[in-house]
Amino acid sequence: MEGGSGYSDVLVGLQYGDEGKAKIVDILADQYDIIARFNGGANAGHTVDTPHGCARLMQVPSGAFHPGKVLYIGSGCVVNIEKLAAEISALSAQGADLDGRLFISHRCVVVQPIHILADRAQGQDIGTTGNGIGPCYADLAARMRRGVRTTVQLRDMLADEDNAISLMQANSDSNGFHVTLDESTEAAWVKLLASTRSAWKVVRKFVSDDDLFLSGKVENGARVLFEGAQSVMLDVVQGDQPFVTSSHTGPAYAYVGGDLPCKFHRKSIGILKAVVSRVGAGPFAAELGGARSARYCADAATNGIGRDEERERINVDALFASGDDFDVGMGLRVLTGEYGTGSGRPRRIGLLDLPQIRHVVARHGIDELFINKCDCLTYFSKTPKRVVPVIAEYHAGPAGLRPVIAEYPTFPPLDIHSRPHTIPASLEELLRSIEQSVGCPIVGIGVGPGRADNISFTPSPVH
Ligand code: IMP
Repeated sequence: MEGGSGYSDVLVGLQYGDEGKAKIVDILADQYDIIARFNGGANAGHTVDTPHGCARLMQVPSGAFHPGKVLYIGSGCVVNIEKLAAEISALSAQGADLDGRLFISHRCVVVQPIHILADRAQGQDIGTTGNGIGPCYADLAARMRRGVRTTVQLRDMLADEDNAISLMQANSDSNGFHVTLDESTEAAWVKLLASTRSAWKVVRKFVSDDDLFLSGKVENGARVLFEGAQSVMLDVVQGDQPFVTSSHTGPAYAYVGGDLPCKFHRKSIGILKAVVSRVGAGPFAAELGGARSARYCADAATNGIGRDEERERINVDALFASGDDFDVGMGLRVLTGEYGTGSGRPRRIGLLDLPQIRHVVARHGIDELFINKCDCLTYFSKTPKRVVPVIAEYHAGPAGLRPVIAEYPTFPPLDIHSRPHTIPASLEELLRSIEQSVGCPIVGIGVGPGRADNISFTPSPVH
């Protein structure tokens, strides 16, 4: 930590989640002292490449594999105690010891067993992750129902574990989600409750009752990187209700859910990916194959069709050769591995949507961009037109907004092992035109899943 006051930066995804935020956090972590989460819970699935192989993070910040870094889970997060305990143990087995460096706000709200049961029973229309996130935030806002407290915070667990468990029990009995506990749900509930008790023994020592934890550190020079979960297009208010998550996902919320005064804010970093994806239901104007793709992916999720089944029965080259949007989307999904980290669900695939990015950059005051998966754009050279299509504008027409596609030359696969790194001229042309179009400098591009597969980019002097 440096002398004098520190600062904080906020990193958020600008599309529908899964933009590769964790990979960028992992790359940037050396520039910070603390990596902090401020929203969401076990619905986030962050994958990082580590010296011990790939690690999957859900609630723990992505700096877990940087031994000297402090990790903080802010009060805006909802905590699944059982999953968090399992994650802490798994990380420890993978060489990331969190003792003495993970701190969790005592104000975090506990995801109760009834929330998980309610979400599993009722989340299908939205295509939620089934982690109880929506019901948990709903009960937080409700506070009390028929004389029964609906929310349990970690501080309630700290104060009196038995009482907190009784509150969860009472909230389950009078729950507001119309979930009736029949024999099988009752058995599931009892099991979830028992595992919450034993998991609490693991989690308890990481909970901090110091509301000034982060501000104290920053006043003493610490540099904080806030890591957003989900993405700004899934914000509970700014996204497309009801097909959103239940928390605020924009960078401003880091200073509510992250327990730090906003006076320490330095910059906001936006993460994109060059081939866009969305899981679950909801509007996705740039989707390749439109409604057909949305239907296909929803059915595939219901029927348990994932990566292996698609790979087995699909001839990728034939799909690209057809040039049909639905086929190209499927081909891109298979080649770029776009399946849910937790669920394995096939993700819906779409084109880079510049008007959408321009809007979220302006709305959230994004200062700089990283664009992941730029290497994936080379797959467009398999299509008959051999161009990279990008949505440049939307024009109003009789049937609503119509996307206007700009076409850029394709480029050969990038050799990320070459030194110095070179970016093909046609990719550079595309990146410059993205900067101009969305009004924000690009500072780095991802060209593969590994830590080293990243190229820094000198932004042009836009705006
Ligand atoms: P929930 O957050 O589980 O309630 O799910 C609400 C919507 O957000 C669904 O469409 C989910 O697929 C989506 N969602 C939640 N978490 C993530 C994520 O980490 N990446 C991408 N989509 C997500």
